[in-house]
Amino acid sequence: MIFNPISHIKGEINLVGDKSISHRAIMLSSISNGNSYIENFLMAKDCLSTIDCFRKMGVDININKDKSVSVKGVGLRGLKRPHGQLDVGNSGTTIRLLMGILAGQNFEANLIGDSSIAQRPMKRVTDPLRKMGAKIIGKDDANFVPITIHGGQLKGIDYIMPIASAQVKSSIILASLYASSQTRIVEKVKSRNHTEIMLKEFGANINVIDNEIYINQVEKLYGQNIYVPADISSASFFICAASMLKGSEILIKNVGLNPTRTGILEVLSQMGGNFEVLNKKVVCGEIIGDLLVRYSKLKAIQIGKELIPKLIDEIPIIAVLATQCEGTTVIKDASELKVKESNRIKSVVLNLKAMGADIEELEDGMIINGPCKLKGTKIDSFNDHRIAMAFSIAALVADKDTCIDNFDCIDISFPEFTDILRKVSY
Ligand code: S3P
Repeated sequence: MIFNPISHIKGEINLVGDKSISHRAIMLSSISNGNSYIENFLMAKDCLSTIDCFRKMGVDININKDKSVSVKGVGLRGLKRPHGQLDVGNSGTTIRLLMGILAGQNFEANLIGDSSIAQRPMKRVTDPLRKMGAKIIGKDDANFVPITIHGGQLKGIDYIMPIASAQVKSSIILASLYASSQTRIVEKVKSRNHTEIMLKEFGANINVIDNEIYINQVEKLYGQNIYVPADISSASFFICAASMLKGSEILIKNVGLNPTRTGILEVLSQMGGNFEVLNKKVVCGEIIGDLLVRYSKLKAIQIGKELIPKLIDEIPIIAVLATQCEGTTVIKDASELKVKESNRIKSVVLNLKAMGADIEELEDGMIINGPCKLKGTKIDSFNDHRIAMAFSIAALVADKDTCIDNFDCIDISFPEFTDILRKVSY
């Protein structure tokens, strides 16, 4: 796909639903009693993988004409042994959260995924689930797919999270719904908390006190109507484009503004960005609002520590933004980037170097000296949706056309991206 430099972006946009919340909405609806209705669900490949897995376990999930989703919950113990393998495709959230639910089921299931999933570590999930009593076998002591999981009688655990990961935390929380005793999870650094918020809405016995989460068994969860806010990770591409291109002004409607996800706004604010949050409200336990973003001259900052989990998926686009900031931006404490859909430290550094940026790779991040006029060139997406989209935004501020290979991989999280970008480009 070829992207041309543009002058600015302008307009009002409605974006696709949040990926993390969409996955959780399908999972919790499936194991609840009664019907659930999910509005603004993200119809993208990753979330469709989750739907496919739950359909294979006997859940009636209907995708309606208006792209909402209706789910007939089967209850905590109503899932059926799947016919054939559960294929999670490219989705780390699907496999890790699903393993938590499977740990509580009295049947065996086999999990597989694509070539990217095959390289992503699973021991971070299989270790605590084994401690709770699940029997799990798989490649390299169940660190990689294919993985077979046989659930059953689980007991609660006391678990201090070794890494900040919402996928790991959520997997343990979901398994704890089936445990005979209380589970306590302690997070040294807080990660996104959509599972905790949504479980409360569904009637689970879950309490969060500071960085500690307590989960106790309940008889049932209850089906809900869920509204999925626009994904701040998808909004970030437009937030950064507007911030970098002189004369830009973009209004992004109904964006999820959960404080565990708004690291991008903290960064933009420290850089001297120009944005406002309008119409803030709480819907289904999640904060949402409209974001009005305008161009602004930006300065470099240091990004690390507790901020990293709040913007982990936005680092590729933040790195692009940093090339347009005055001074040296340092991104540290982000070694988790190496085990995402691609090694995102390498894929960002390699591509930004190809565009002529002054960038240095670190073990746990990168250093970027700006500002710099980027050069249009050939970009390798590494088949990673966020790399493809981040570099299509880099292309907008480049000197000439940029060609991004395998751009179709954006279908993982944001199939409408190019259409929306085209509509607001001038
Ligand atoms: C996600 C958590 C994050 C994020 C991923 C989605 C989730 O991963 O990178 O895209 O939905 O729980 P971590 O497990 O590293 O927090």
